[in-house]
Amino acid sequence: MSEIGILVLHGPNLNLLGLREPGIYGLKTLKQIDEALKSDAKKLQVTLTSLQSNHEGVLVDAIHDARDKHQGIIINAGAYTHTSVAIRDALAAVQIPTVEVHLSNIYTREEFRHHSYIAPVAIGQISGFGADSYSLGLRALVNYLNKD
Ligand code: DQA
Repeated sequence: MSEIGILVLHGPNLNLLGLREPGIYGLKTLKQIDEALKSDAKKLQVTLTSLQSNHEGVLVDAIHDARDKHQGIIINAGAYTHTSVAIRDALAAVQIPTVEVHLSNIYTREEFRHHSYIAPVAIGQISGFGADSYSLGLRALVNYLNKD
């Protein structure tokens, strides 16, 4: 059986992690988060590809390109979580099991962050555990895919 492939998508401004509002998002850089995830992926025996973009269309294209390449998606769409019907529609179109993650707890923050366009098309959401949200999301997704 070939290895499960997971695509990790990071949305706008997440390239600035480490510098960006560290009291909310922590001190870890995106590179450190991706490296930790790669090592988790190795232990879980899955392959992991990650992409960060500040552009909505690039994220939509990456979701389309995931068809036939990746079996699961982890997405932190950043601010697009609260605005992007296009990203939600792309996830609904490709029907690849997706876990939504957020470093911060979006429900304890400003009201405009309480709504996610992605949540209804995701198998689940993890929000509020800092960088651990990604590793928890990866574990949950791999467990889900291994049940198939
Ligand atoms: C975020 C939460 C969003 O509301 C915000 O726009 C982000 C990061 C998080 O990981 O906590 O850019 O997705």
